[in-house]
Amino acid sequence: MRREMMIDELDWDSNYFNLRCGKVDLTEEDINSGALVDLASRINQFDFVSIRCAGNFVETNYRITSELHARLVDINIQLSKSIEQAPEPSDFRIIPSRDLDEDLFLQMKVLEKDYMYSKFVRDPHMRSRNAFNVYNEWIANSKCFDDKYFAVKLVERRVAGFTLFRLVDNDVTLELVKVNEDFRGCGIASELMRGIDHFGSLRGCETARVGTQLDNLPAINMYHKMGFREVSRTFVYHCWNVD
Ligand SMILES: CC(C)(COP(=O)(O)OP(=O)(O)OC[C@H]1O[C@@H](n2cnc3c(N)ncnc32)[C@H](O)[C@@H]1OP(=O)(O)O)[C@@H](O)C(=O)NCCC(=O)NCCS
Repeated sequence: MRREMMIDELDWDSNYFNLRCGKVDLTEEDINSGALVDLASRINQFDFVSIRCAGNFVETNYRITSELHARLVDINIQLSKSIEQAPEPSDFRIIPSRDLDEDLFLQMKVLEKDYMYSKFVRDPHMRSRNAFNVYNEWIANSKCFDDKYFAVKLVERRVAGFTLFRLVDNDVTLELVKVNEDFRGCGIASELMRGIDHFGSLRGCETARVGTQLDNLPAINMYHKMGFREVSRTFVYHCWNVD
């Protein structure tokens, strides 16, 4: 039976971009049952709609891009792993996001080039709106959460790399991972992952989860090396009704 396709309002994004933003999750069955007809007219009521569809189906990809005038902007990969006991790395700190001081906060900035595989940079409409700053907003907003933490690796007392993560029930969700360009390839992200394992295992956490982009080979290789395995791939398309 055909499911009624509703577009969810994205309030945070609408406020941030000053556009009416929405999102919809589609399945292959939705598309085969004719859902795109309804969806095309609903999309026209928004300035921007993000469409997510799990799995790689040639006909589905073709119909979303041609019938909805959408662009494929990201192939998102979700990975997970069991948390194992690990020794705490040296020069490593875990800081509740509420307690982050101004000095460290100022050292944790995401640049556009750091997230060059992200839909916020790859989509020209997003890039022209400096959408990569969404990551810096997440860092700033993390102060409002009791369950978010920063893992920080220091070199000569300066931040060389950090991870923003969240503890929910027995799960650790990694939200942002960044190693400063000068320190990449030196094992810093691996240390951050081990440090989070150490912290999580002491708190009874069982699983760690993270998402990244198919093209982000440094990140995918790093996650695989640290024991993560892929659990899903989702194709993300953007529809714009503004110039
Ligand atoms: C992805 C990132 C965090 C890796 O940090 P890093 O400290 O350089 O990673 P490590 O030195 O711990 O490397 C661990 C493994 O990752 C893989 N890796 C790291 N850099 C790589 C590269 N440029 N190309 C391919 N694989 C790479 C390797 O398998 C490496 O193991 P090896 O040294 O035994 O070969 C870093 O490149 C980065 O900050 N990128 C920009 C932000 C980003 O993409 N974050 C992830 C978003 S989800």
